[in-house]
Amino acid sequence: MKIRVLGSGAGGGFPQWNCNCNNCKRIRAGEMNGKKRTQSSIAVSSDNENWLLINASPDIRTQLEAFPAIQPKHGLRDTGIKTVLLIDSQIDHTTGLLMLREGKPLDIYCTEMVKQDLTTGFPIFNMLSHYCTVNHHPVPIDGGSFTIPAIADLRFYTQSLKSKAPPYSPHRHDPHDGDNIGLVIEQISTGKQVYYAPGLGEIENHVMANMLNADCVLVDGTFWSENEMIDLGLSKKPAAEMGHLPQSSKGGMIEILNGVPKARKILIHINNSNPILDEDSDPHRQLLQAGIELAHDGLEIDI
Ligand code: MLT
Ligand code: MN
Ligand code: ZN
Repeated sequence: MKIRVLGSGAGGGFPQWNCNCNNCKRIRAGEMNGKKRTQSSIAVSSDNENWLLINASPDIRTQLEAFPAIQPKHGLRDTGIKTVLLIDSQIDHTTGLLMLREGKPLDIYCTEMVKQDLTTGFPIFNMLSHYCTVNHHPVPIDGGSFTIPAIADLRFYTQSLKSKAPPYSPHRHDPHDGDNIGLVIEQISTGKQVYYAPGLGEIENHVMANMLNADCVLVDGTFWSENEMIDLGLSKKPAAEMGHLPQSSKGGMIEILNGVPKARKILIHINNSNPILDEDSDPHRQLLQAGIELAHDGLEIDI
């Protein structure tokens, strides 16, 4: 299978439009050894022709323009995007759906909880229905598997994650299974697996089991430290309150991934405040030493 990283940044992207933090300022000025990043999304295919879009970023236009394999090929209106899967109802993962409104019916796979958010607190399904039909397909939250007719040779397993529903969710302060999911993508013919979870608040047993089985993990790279946003004066929220496990803390992502010997390990959904974005920084070196890569926009992973 092939995974294309369309956007490797967290909400806001890198640099964020209104941010003058050390990272954003330096990358804008061309004074950092690093890469700009658009907001979080990947696409997966087993035939390089029919793609599942996983999350729909506000930056989707730029992302599709940068990726010829997904562009129109046959007839007057066409796309390689055959279906969409959403892992949560966050702005950075769903707003791009509005940019797909000129398409044919949109087949969207997501949990009932995500559908609820997207028809109430952030009612983009309702809005889209004035432009194109939205066909909602519910996905399991217990690790159950399913296949998607237009996407050959791939099987998907989805399971609820302990994280946070977005601020506009009617149940923001009353977590439900299915607010967020982790995703295993398996190629049926080869048995190879990728585990994708750009928002991981906690490493539950099933998360660890999925990572140990996987040939590649693409996991939460949002923050380096728990109080990063607070220390930089950017927010009052620690990483945990935003549903993200930082890399450097005790029991954090570096330690967790040290216990995952088999998989290729890649961080994704990297926030603009994260010091790992500076490729000359000590945190960046620490990641590389731990055998962990940083996803960047346009990265293609063949598994
Ligand atoms: C998050 O995952 O916490 C988001 O990136 C926040 C946001 O989109 O504002
Ligand atoms: Mn996000
Ligand atoms: Zn910034």
